[in-house]
Amino acid sequence: MAAPATEAPKTETKKISLTGIKPSGTPHVGNYLGAIKPALKLAETFQAYYFIADYHALTTVTDPDLMHQYVYEIIATWLAMGLDPDEVVFYRQSDIPEIFELTWILSCYTAKGLLNRAHAYKAKVDANREEDRDEDAGVSAGLFNYPVLMASDILMFNTNYVPVGQDQKQHIEIARDIAASFNNNYGQEVLVLPEAYIMDDVATVPGIDGRKMSKSYGNVVPLFAPPKQLRKQIMRIVTNSQQPEEPKDPDADNIYNIYKHFASPEDLARVRQTYLEGGLAYGKMKQELFELLEATFGEARSQYDEYMNDKAELDRIMTRGAEKARAISVPMIEKMRKTVGIR
Ligand code: ADP
Ligand code: TRP
Repeated sequence: MAAPATEAPKTETKKISLTGIKPSGTPHVGNYLGAIKPALKLAETFQAYYFIADYHALTTVTDPDLMHQYVYEIIATWLAMGLDPDEVVFYRQSDIPEIFELTWILSCYTAKGLLNRAHAYKAKVDANREEDRDEDAGVSAGLFNYPVLMASDILMFNTNYVPVGQDQKQHIEIARDIAASFNNNYGQEVLVLPEAYIMDDVATVPGIDGRKMSKSYGNVVPLFAPPKQLRKQIMRIVTNSQQPEEPKDPDADNIYNIYKHFASPEDLARVRQTYLEGGLAYGKMKQELFELLEATFGEARSQYDEYMNDKAELDRIMTRGAEKARAISVPMIEKMRKTVGIR
């Protein structure tokens, strides 16, 4: 519905959604359907903030060249997929120094016990105990404090909603707890209490071996690989040894389970029929999936390649994004300093 001309500008009326994307691997088809696409849709409803959580990635990405590469890949991916940097606020976390100052302030309002219970840390401790190691073996203070930095990302921008997957829900609750404890001490609503916006009806895309597509399993279909490489990966999809003429269960087939997320209803019905009746050759089906992915992502890949070949343009876009973000974070940190009595 078009807004009447007399209404206040949408930035004043819209609630704020904010989400961070960790540059910890080359984006795959699962990331697109499970995270990128649904997150981009939120820009229709909210004043949306998207940022590259590069300092969060430092807890796992320790090779500087890889870090550098991943950051640009993620920026280029989101732009190629339709993120409009003029409509939304799109920036790199590391370009906003106020976030790190806020992290310290917030850490003074974070119960250590709260961090002891954070899933990622707890999982490490449990694994260490099981193996009879020191319980903090292999745990950096960065990993332990990860939720505080995330709270800072969120609370800095007066965020109302944080679109994330189920696995991140606890982090939003921690941010809420920290905000409440801060507000409680100073007797005023300085920090907005954020809510998780759980995107749990999004698709889970299986990988080429049928397990959840994940970079940790090495079973991904990359979003923007060159066609030859994409085709090669699709030809590696694991199938059973049924002959073309045999009837097959489409829902048990790895090719179909990727195909179904992208096919038109008509194509899907046609292909399903062929599986059930017999007459489907896996090799041909793989070729059809390859062509479908080419048709779906081919154009975005050209844009992605253009961006990746013009990093200066990516830097310009991110610098403009950081300026927009800092128009909020600079006054916010001043307010925080004033609140705590540091002037
Ligand atoms: P990976 O499992 O490859 O390491 P991440 O954990 O970095 O991926 O996930 C980044 C985002 O992409 C998360 O929001 C996650 O829920 C989503 N995602 C990852 N894999 C899939 C998948 N196979 N299907 C749907 N969403 C996925
Ligand atoms: N921890 C998130 C993840 O692993 C990334 C992230 C960092 C984030 N800061 C955030 C997500 C703030 C939402 C809001 O996916």
